[in-house]
Amino acid sequence: MDDRQRDKNIMEYETVALDDADSALVVIDQTKLPAVTELIRLHTAQEIWDAIYLLKVRGAPAIGVAAAFGIYLLAKGIDTEDYDVFCRKFREYKDYLNSARPTAVNLSWALNRMERICEDSRGLPVDGIRQRLKATALAMKEEDIRVCRAIGEHGLTLVRPGDGILTHCNAGQLATCRYGTATAPIYLGQERGYHFRVFADETRPLLQGARLTAYELQASGVDVTLICDNMCAAVMRNGWINAVFVGCDRVAANGDVANKIGTSVVATVAKRYNVPFYVCAPTSTIDMDTPTGADIVIEQRPAGEVTDMWYEKPMAPAGVKVFNPAFDVTDNELITGIVTEHGVLRPPYAEAFQALFRRRQEL
Ligand code: MRU
Repeated sequence: MDDRQRDKNIMEYETVALDDADSALVVIDQTKLPAVTELIRLHTAQEIWDAIYLLKVRGAPAIGVAAAFGIYLLAKGIDTEDYDVFCRKFREYKDYLNSARPTAVNLSWALNRMERICEDSRGLPVDGIRQRLKATALAMKEEDIRVCRAIGEHGLTLVRPGDGILTHCNAGQLATCRYGTATAPIYLGQERGYHFRVFADETRPLLQGARLTAYELQASGVDVTLICDNMCAAVMRNGWINAVFVGCDRVAANGDVANKIGTSVVATVAKRYNVPFYVCAPTSTIDMDTPTGADIVIEQRPAGEVTDMWYEKPMAPAGVKVFNPAFDVTDNELITGIVTEHGVLRPPYAEAFQALFRRRQEL
C-alpha cells in the first residue's frame, strides 16, 4: 500500500492510530510535513523509540498515546504465558520507550498507566492482560480527544470574536489525537464563526510553528500569519495580540511550566505588553512529583538541528559550539492562567492544583 496521499486535507488524518490486524502503530511522519504527508507503520521497539526521538511523532499528548499503543503492540509480541516473565519483559520495553524523550511527562504517565494494568492483573491469563492493555490504550486516545475539546471550551471563554491570538511551537491537532491543546479554542472558535487572527511563531530550530501549526491552521481555514520567533514583541507592541495560548510538556507543582524553547521569551514579552499568557494543559501534564521548574529535566538535542538541519547549506561555521535545549521553563508568575479540561486555574497554582486533585478524588 502506498501511504503517500497528497490530496487529502491534513486535518482528515489521524495523528496516531493502531492497526491491530497488522500489529502496527501508524503515525504521520511529521518531519516530512508540510511537503509530504506520509503515514509510517511502526512494529518494533526500535522503530517506535526512533519515531519518538526523531520527532516523527511529537507533542506531549500524541507521544503519550503513541507510547501506549506501542507498548501494547510490544506486549502482544511477548511470547509467554507466564505472568512474571511477561511483566519482566513488559518493564524492559517500558523503560526503553520511556528513555526516548525526558521532558514531556505524558510519555512516562502513559507508560506507567499501562504498567499498572499489568500489576493489577495478576491471576489473569496473559492474553487477558493483553486485551486489557489494548482497551486502555484505545481509551487513552478517546480521552485525549475529550480532554482537548474541554480545554477548547474553557479556553474560548478567555477570548472574544475577532481577537488576535499568538501561539508558539505546535500544540495543535498534530500534537494530540484531535483539536490540539493551545489550538483547541481556535478550532472551536472557528466552528462558531469567531474569526480569530492567529499569529504562529515559526519556532526555531525545528520549525514546528511554521511546518505544522501554520499548516494545520491554514488547512482548517483559520486566518493565520506566520512570524519569526523574534517578532513577537513587534506584533504585541502593535496591539495585534489579545491573548497567547501555548501548550506544555510538564507543569511543576508550583505552576512553572516546561514547553518548547522560546516559550518563556513569549511569556516575558507578553507581561511587558499586558497580554494575557495562557498555558493549555491536560491535567495529565501536571506533575505533582516535580516541585519546581528547576527540577524539570530539559532535553538537549544535537547541534546539527541549529547549524544544518532544514537548510540546503550549513548555516554556521563548522565545529562552532552550540547550545540546543528543546524546552525552556516559564516561571509561574508570568502565567495568567492554566487552561485544563476542568477549567481555568489561576495563581497561586500550588493551591489551585491541590484543590483540583482533591475535588477529583472526591468524585
Ligand atoms: O519537541 P516537540 O515538538 O515535541 O515539542 C512540542 C511542544 O513543546 C508542545 O507545545 C507540547 O508538547 C504540547 S503539545 C499539545
